[in-house]
Amino acid sequence: MPFLLDSPEAVAQARQSAAVDFEAFWADVAGHYEWMNPWHTVCDWEFETPRVRWFDGAKLNMTANCLDRHVAAGHGDRNAILWEPNDPADDTVAITYAELHGRVCRFANVLKSRGVGKGDRVALYLPMVPELAVAVLACARIGAVHSVVFAGFSARSLADRIQDAGAVCVITSDGMKRGAKGLALKAVVDEALAECPTITTNLVVRHTGEDVQWNTDRDVWLHEALTAVSGDCPPEPMDSEDLLFILYTSGSTGKPKGVVHTCGGYMVYAGYSFANVFQYQPGDVYWCTADIGWITGHSYIVYGPLLNGATTVMFEGVPTYPSPGRFWEVCEKLKVNQFYTAPTAIRALMACEPRFAKGHDLSALKVIGSVGEPINEEAWQWYHDAIGGGECALVDTWWQTETGGILISGLGAHSPMKPAHAGYPLPGISPVLVDGDGNTLEGEAEGYLCIDRPWPSMIRTTYGDHERCRNVYFSAFKGKYFTGDGARRDADGMFRIIGRVDDVVNVSGHRFGTAEIEDAIDSHPAVAECAVIGYPHPIKGQAVHAYVILKDGALPSTEEGITALRKEIGVQVNTEIGNIARPDRIQFTPGLPKTRSGKIMRRILRKVASGEHDQLGDTSTLLDPTVVDGVIAGAAEFLA
Ligand code: WTA
Repeated sequence: MPFLLDSPEAVAQARQSAAVDFEAFWADVAGHYEWMNPWHTVCDWEFETPRVRWFDGAKLNMTANCLDRHVAAGHGDRNAILWEPNDPADDTVAITYAELHGRVCRFANVLKSRGVGKGDRVALYLPMVPELAVAVLACARIGAVHSVVFAGFSARSLADRIQDAGAVCVITSDGMKRGAKGLALKAVVDEALAECPTITTNLVVRHTGEDVQWNTDRDVWLHEALTAVSGDCPPEPMDSEDLLFILYTSGSTGKPKGVVHTCGGYMVYAGYSFANVFQYQPGDVYWCTADIGWITGHSYIVYGPLLNGATTVMFEGVPTYPSPGRFWEVCEKLKVNQFYTAPTAIRALMACEPRFAKGHDLSALKVIGSVGEPINEEAWQWYHDAIGGGECALVDTWWQTETGGILISGLGAHSPMKPAHAGYPLPGISPVLVDGDGNTLEGEAEGYLCIDRPWPSMIRTTYGDHERCRNVYFSAFKGKYFTGDGARRDADGMFRIIGRVDDVVNVSGHRFGTAEIEDAIDSHPAVAECAVIGYPHPIKGQAVHAYVILKDGALPSTEEGITALRKEIGVQVNTEIGNIARPDRIQFTPGLPKTRSGKIMRRILRKVASGEHDQLGDTSTLLDPTVVDGVIAGAAEFLA
């Protein structure tokens, strides 16, 4: 059923045919799905406006492909989801394709009964419980546009996203469990909704059973609403370019933007990339440890696996609860065949070796994957040897919220592996490296990573602001999509991703704009000005160092006072964005290195925070070079 390249020769051939005629190639891939209506044009595109349309004229429904098709093929009793709860004493919950189909239809009818219809935006703010996957699919069933907001974001961030999308409905739960901790999710939503007049329904999943405040005008218990609806809900026919979802992500400027993905192209690419990167075989158990609040969860927990009729594991907990052996316990228990996680988790668990990884039977593993940030050689090697037993294919998958799916990666065991290298583009993907002037670099080279041809799951627009999409992604290099990443290509043509070249930091695989964190810190009444940069961190990849200039007289005179002020500023970031963006270091400084035109020289701040203040380079263009000495002296306490 899926378009599966099952040998190195098949991969080479696909690469070849995509190079000759990429539209014919993608039409061939798309032919492996169920369409209600055929397309009249495979791809209509230009990267100036930009305008990107795939499979125009076609009609489809994502869930008909994720669910009905498998049930109709007689696979209704196959497990679709294996849910692994936070508490290891609780049993794994298995949901078959037939059951999932039924639950999605009922949930969809609840949405309809609340007046939610095609094109309406629905915000999801939920823990990793099966209802999250069901809610995503229920939206897709009726053509509502889902906007999943990671449940670690603050009320402020949730409200911003609801307002930007003009959402009419929010779906949440009473509370959530994360390791030994809990979070009162409904209370966060209540706070956000005070500023969100467009919301008419707040659908609440009962999960922890804790007490919640209730607003009878808009709050509805899901379990009560489900008793009043039928299980019959035909899939809404969607145009290929109708919106499937919005997912907010950070860039170098402004508030997070709503990346828009559409139905047809996203479906084609999510299914294609899942099948080929993970080389999934019927009966395999696949586990991606991400949260559905991020793009990785959208494409590789929900849509990609279900399009392929796979069994996908959903994990509610965290890697270290109740012990750092949890991942490996679950892998052993569920006989996981494909395992997909982030370098930050790998590094954290590597630090616990050998007690926790050893002694677990990981022999079912065939493919292990990495995503979200560059994986360093040491972590790569440990993952390969200690977890993969030296025998698994290790796929380092490079992609972005904007790309919708994995663009550069090994394909199971059918590609050569090289530590810390993502490798070759998937067949059909055309990455190029350019220099600062936009000249295309050939052969072995290092430069800005761009893509010069469309692919089905690429970003269509930023919600409500197409000019922003053009400006951020299509204006830096004419005729090309610019990723914001720097990369190196070796003599064999394999890519190694270096990291962001813009003002985006990647903390434990989570993206933040430095400006976004600066805005949060600036909103503290004692702060006059600040600058935020990322510095290398052994576990998180990058961590946040904030240089803060306080208003006159605001610097506390005691150690305790300073500690308390740092804490307050941390709480401010927590309130404005979420705990995940909280700076690791807050350095109070009398000045910041600025050029004569008033621009902060971040390069200097990065070097200082990395402990490389002997390599500052040219500082002669600074307005006041002596400021640098103060910055270096102030950083000393963090670098000891
Ligand atoms: C980084 C996550 C190196 C990169 C899917 C990109 C990576 C950003 C890799 C996107 C990788 C992702 N190697 N860097 N395998 N995967 N990145 O939107 O900087 O949360 O631009 O999507 O993560 O982050 P996003």
